[in-house]
Amino acid sequence: MADDPDAWWLDERAHAGREHFDEQHARRYDTKMDAEAAAEVRLLQASGVLTPTSSVVDLGAGSGQFSLAAAPVCRRVVAVDVSPVMLGQLVANIERAGAPNVEAVNAGFLTYRHTGGPVDLVYSRYALHHLPDFWKALALRRVAEMLRPGGALRLSDVVYSFEPADAERRIETWITETTSTDVERGWTRAELAEHVRDEHSTFTWLLEPMLERAGFDVVESSYSASGMFAWYLCRRR
Ligand SMILES: C[S@@+](CC[C@H](N)C(=O)[O-])C[C@H]1O[C@@H](n2cnc3c(N)ncnc32)[C@H](O)[C@@H]1O
Repeated sequence: MADDPDAWWLDERAHAGREHFDEQHARRYDTKMDAEAAAEVRLLQASGVLTPTSSVVDLGAGSGQFSLAAAPVCRRVVAVDVSPVMLGQLVANIERAGAPNVEAVNAGFLTYRHTGGPVDLVYSRYALHHLPDFWKALALRRVAEMLRPGGALRLSDVVYSFEPADAERRIETWITETTSTDVERGWTRAELAEHVRDEHSTFTWLLEPMLERAGFDVVESSYSASGMFAWYLCRRR
């Protein structure tokens, strides 16, 4: 789509994060990132939104940590990622784990078309921030449309819960406290700075009305003490 000067729909790949097209980053992703998938699965089971009959779509699935943790306790998982490089890692992890009910699909928030019956749960962690806000709103509407009424969205992301006046202090503190010098195991200052500068993390007070407008009720929300992360459990009206 980027090759067509007349097209106005966003080319998601052009916004999906430089590092997600880097084979070396994809290989070390699981060492750098603990997606706390087992805890997420327990939480979603306890909330009653992840059951043995659930059909789940994981959007921006990355290496598949959540998809693979959810697979044994639900019926079907579709793991969707726009980067073929991250998807390669995901497919290797599916093969290693032997998870026959996980399907890998190369698509994005703005292009994935669900087939095969209604979806009970859409899961998305640390991926929506790749889209600028206008496109986040459209992506959330697409998510609502793939869910059955009453279906759930679990959304986690880098979302800012502080005021703009506090942004410099909060972001500098977060970067200073998070920075690692070991690129294999942690996040370097350059990687964290790149997130803030080049990606599209937004404020909680902009994202939450988007969720409502897209057709969701936010039933649970929580923010990190740093003001840098937000977690939502939403129900499609
Ligand atoms: C930081 S990783 C998070 C992966 C995984 N959800 C986790 O929590 O470990 C972000 C992922 O989102 C994917 N991504 C970026 N933009 C996307 C889009 N528009 N649609 C779907 N996936 C996207 C990237 O390729 C990458 O695999």
